Amino acid sequence: MLADPAGPGRLSEASPTDKIIATDLGYAYRSRRRADVVALEDVDFTVKEGEFVSVVGPSGCGKSTLLRLLGGLQEPTRGSVSIRRDDPARPLTSPVFQEYSVFPWRTVEANVRLGLDAAGVPREVSAPRVREWIRRVGLEGFEESYPSGLSGGMKQRVALARAFIMEPEILLMDEPFAALDAQRRKIMQEELLGIVREKQNTVFFVTHNLDEAILLSDRIILMTARPGRVKQVFDVPFEHPRSPELRGDPRFAELESTIWSELRKEVIVTDGESGQEAAGSPKGVQPRQGARHD
Ligand SMILES: Nc1ncnc2c1ncn2[C@@H]1O[C@H](COP(=O)(O)OP(=O)(O)OP(=O)(O)O)[C@@H](O)[C@H]1O
Ligand SMILES: [Mg+2]
Repeated sequence: MLADPAGPGRLSEASPTDKIIATDLGYAYRSRRRADVVALEDVDFTVKEGEFVSVVGPSGCGKSTLLRLLGGLQEPTRGSVSIRRDDPARPLTSPVFQEYSVFPWRTVEANVRLGLDAAGVPREVSAPRVREWIRRVGLEGFEESYPSGLSGGMKQRVALARAFIMEPEILLMDEPFAALDAQRRKIMQEELLGIVREKQNTVFFVTHNLDEAILLSDRIILMTARPGRVKQVFDVPFEHPRSPELRGDPRFAELESTIWSELRKEVIVTDGESGQEAAGSPKGVQPRQGARHD
């Protein structure tokens, strides 16, 4: 799907198991009327095939921007993203966005079926799959409802079903469970662990929730405050299949506390920056000193 702007030879240096390669990736939001906002700078990482990688970092550090670059929805202003396609029969990526992205004029059933309709899958084939996914996200009985009659968490579950049903090679998920209540969030985390094991998806997952990141991920990328860079990458030492009981393992709490002590520093930087912005410029649009792209 995405070209490799670094040119021929770039991928030959990569390991055959690399699925996503981000190289010197940067993104600046440009504006005629105000200073550019450098969201991401010098971001380098790889994601292996079948790997579950989470990204954590303070608000505004560029996590959603990064996800959109991986999904090809925005083009990097620096560096490159390479994604290897393995199965032409499957969509390469399927995103779940931070904001609910359901179509208000379509019923739950029609929203979940959307990608299959677009791919020309006949209704007799899509119908059982749609029913199955509506059940798996706990929306049985709401098939004919319109989004206006659903809670925020229910709308997000429609968006989740719509992404899962496509069985993409890579699931791109931007805080997909943030709108769910605590109980449903736990159920969806377990569901996601099961889906990933069954379908062998590669997952790139943005979350603010460290407990969730540790439970689900193989590795966790910690980003700095804006401009977002990779500050540290943590290996999560637990085998699959995993269950929520993992939370009782002392290594779980230890890792959570290690990541938090680093993340906390970045959140404090962001808080300081917001204070300056509140005093002098519109919130979120002032790059830090020396952080501008020319
Ligand atoms: N369309 C835009 N125009 C200008 N600046 C933008 C735009 N979208 C995002 N930004 C800025 O880019 C930076 C990164 O935004 P992004 O949404 O990627 O952050 P985030 O890490 O996902 O934050 P959050 O955790 O709050 O969702 C922020 O400072 C934001 O203000
Ligand atoms: Mg975001």
